[in-house]
Amino acid sequence: MTEAQLEPETLRGVIARELTGARQRTELLTDCVDEADLVRQYSPLMSPLVWDLAHIANQEELWLLREVGGREPMHPEIDPLYDAFEHPRAERPTLPLLPPAESRAYAHEVRGRVLDLIERSRFGGTRLLADGFAFGMIAQHEVQHDETMLITHQIRGSRGPGAAAAVLSASAPSPAPADASRLPSEVPVPGGPFTMGTSTEPWALDNERPAYTAEVAPFFIDTTPVTCGAYAEFIADGGYDDPRWWAAAGWQHRQRAGLTAPLYWSRDGKQWTRGVFGATEPVRPDEPVLHVCWYEADAYARWAGRRLPTEAEWEKAARFDPATGLSRRYPWGNSEPQSSHANLGQAFLRPAPAGSYPAGAALCGARQLIGDVWEWTSSDFLPYPGFSAWPYREYSEVFFGPEYKVLRGGSFAVSPVACRGTFRNWDYPIRRQIFSGFRTARSAVAETA
Ligand SMILES: [Fe+2]
Repeated sequence: MTEAQLEPETLRGVIARELTGARQRTELLTDCVDEADLVRQYSPLMSPLVWDLAHIANQEELWLLREVGGREPMHPEIDPLYDAFEHPRAERPTLPLLPPAESRAYAHEVRGRVLDLIERSRFGGTRLLADGFAFGMIAQHEVQHDETMLITHQIRGSRGPGAAAAVLSASAPSPAPADASRLPSEVPVPGGPFTMGTSTEPWALDNERPAYTAEVAPFFIDTTPVTCGAYAEFIADGGYDDPRWWAAAGWQHRQRAGLTAPLYWSRDGKQWTRGVFGATEPVRPDEPVLHVCWYEADAYARWAGRRLPTEAEWEKAARFDPATGLSRRYPWGNSEPQSSHANLGQAFLRPAPAGSYPAGAALCGARQLIGDVWEWTSSDFLPYPGFSAWPYREYSEVFFGPEYKVLRGGSFAVSPVACRGTFRNWDYPIRRQIFSGFRTARSAVAETA
């Protein structure tokens, strides 16, 4: 989606393309396992895949057919089953959910009616319809569940053979480019004001709005996400056994949960191995580390004599153009993401080696800010000045507060439609089943204790 206002005919094409692309992925993620697997819950942190499928359809029906189209509910009795706030993930398998065939039929029926609605929509008159926002919101919702479902597949793979992996993606990212080994470990970002958030991105969600002037002091940020090789040095140096590196709550969690390495890592003699969608492979030193929680990222940064970037620092590194003083939509500029810019959209089932995607570099020189791994920041999830909840409080507002930390930049599993320089994700600091990694930063001016 561009910032420029599109003609209705062009917008129709964009919406149809995004919804259709999301649905192809949803179908692949739910067709590649048998019915028993679709209804099984692999972790109390995740829904059964069949819940995601019917929930995607239910949200699409609620927002597009009922709110926008003014239609009557198709199956009002199932609404409560698929309300994410009414039933936490842990209890979803106990609900009388639609079986796989009915879930598929429901999703198909809703989508057919939505495609009709798109043809008749004028994309104006109400805030929900302006620039096709409601359609964009629903496309983003579906691809976010596609990422969630891919996480379920990774968990599933850790419990047994990951036969689905070959169906989900057969290709691997290219080796690191020739200059990757010569990149500086960190790059400077100037201090001063910059525009954070957006008031013009048509499909930006409420928590990315409105644009405002944020101020940061000069700092340095890692050129690439922290690699598995660097993280293994932290482990080898006793990082998990030394409370000096850990926040107090992080140390408590590390003790209680018995953390000794990233999720899915195992020790095999002298080397580390990693479970990847049901396969076991040696940990690749040049790949960004994945499946670490905020407390692990925070401890690593302290061990390295550094810290996590704040959310504002991350966004300035990703978007700021010192020549114009403006913030760009993406690190590489304002144009839509291409496969040369970033590792997005589940094209691969893993991050690309550190230093990849030179064409997607930010003006400061940092690479892979978009795609590959979600990057933990030091910041709590809070509203921007002037925030107003829209179109519903449960989208963001009920999550604001110190219990959630912000992640930025998107992972290999998120589609471009739900990934941009302003996009904000949030999660508990103990979570690591998500596709999370991090990079570190330091202030350019020595901090006085
Ligand atoms: Fe949802």
